[in-house]
Amino acid sequence: MTLGAELARLIRAAGPISIAHYMSEALANPRLGYYTTRDPFGAEGDFITAPEVSQMFGEMVGLWCVDLWERLGRPARFHLAEAGPGRGTLIRDALRAARVQPAFTATAQLHLIEVSPTLRTLQADALAGVAVGGGPTWHAEFATVPDDAPLILISNELLDALPIHQYQRTRQGWRERLVDCAGENAFRIVLAAEPPEDLRHLPAALAGAPIGAIAEISPAAHALIEQVARRVVATGGAALMIDIGRTESTPGETLQAVKRHAGHPVFERPGESDLAAYVDFAALVQSARAAGARTFGPTTQGAFLAALGIAARAGRLQAGKPPEQAARIDAERRRLVDADQMGALFKVVAIADPELAALAGFAAAP
Ligand SMILES: C[S@@+](CC[C@H](N)C(=O)[O-])C[C@H]1O[C@@H](n2cnc3c(N)ncnc32)[C@H](O)[C@@H]1O
Repeated sequence: MTLGAELARLIRAAGPISIAHYMSEALANPRLGYYTTRDPFGAEGDFITAPEVSQMFGEMVGLWCVDLWERLGRPARFHLAEAGPGRGTLIRDALRAARVQPAFTATAQLHLIEVSPTLRTLQADALAGVAVGGGPTWHAEFATVPDDAPLILISNELLDALPIHQYQRTRQGWRERLVDCAGENAFRIVLAAEPPEDLRHLPAALAGAPIGAIAEISPAAHALIEQVARRVVATGGAALMIDIGRTESTPGETLQAVKRHAGHPVFERPGESDLAAYVDFAALVQSARAAGARTFGPTTQGAFLAALGIAARAGRLQAGKPPEQAARIDAERRRLVDADQMGALFKVVAIADPELAALAGFAAAP
């Protein structure tokens, strides 16, 4: 049975489900979820992420981690974690660049937080022969990453994959948008009759939104950010999170599906296309601060990579290369940093132990 048929049967039996429930099943159902069943990355797959565009992305992130480790006083042991590592390309490139400080790689306890068994296998392959102090150890969730040493956590395009709820402003107040069944394998959106039980994370900026406005809220993203914030406050360290999103809480529907590098209807053939929603960085930063952390950013991916010296790295890679290869390296750099490519839409935020007064790549924290 397809996932669409399973979800239709569930809805017919128990009534409409939240968009968060639909999204979580579509992406991570243990048998039929999108990430559980395939390697979606690259030209042959459905989409390309920044680490797959160029090795320079992971290298810059690796140097950021080494810089953070130095700011932490070069701890004798620390946990290096990646949440949602995909093919393992980012962590592999980061660890290669981090070899500039052999003590960093020698003492890093590596943890990979990943729900997909298929992608765990690819991550193990990508890291074969890469020496670290301990690990890699895989985790289904952040909570099981040990808390007995400082944490350096990275993630790229994880937050946009975490399930969101959608709410619509009506004359009676906010109502949740739910997924109902509209025939065999077909779905439609309906509004809940009753007010939502929990609107804790509705941003204050949306309180006066006009009738018809849609708010997207990811309790899963807030829960992760709060856990990470509490952890870095308790153990020292910081988390770097890079994702597609907005710096202000604004209304609007951003949930989208992608298949074969093109848009796809969100409610068609669940489990066969990627689903993602813009991250509300303003709201997540508030949650991190409320949990006691210092936050840096959001800044744009373009500004972040430029501040870390991606132009110089591209120059080093181009040196001595034939013109067409040098041009390709420059095109990849531009794809990562230019505002009309990935440079402006993707944002970077750091959640840090308040003892950390500054972090590479960010203007000074307020
Ligand atoms: C869009 S991919 C990004 C992969 C990689 N970071 C990159 O940039 O290429 C999302 C990743 O997060 C993982 N993922 C999705 N939901 C997750 C969850 N709830 N917990 C942990 N990992 C999750 C997916 O399996 C995948 O590895």
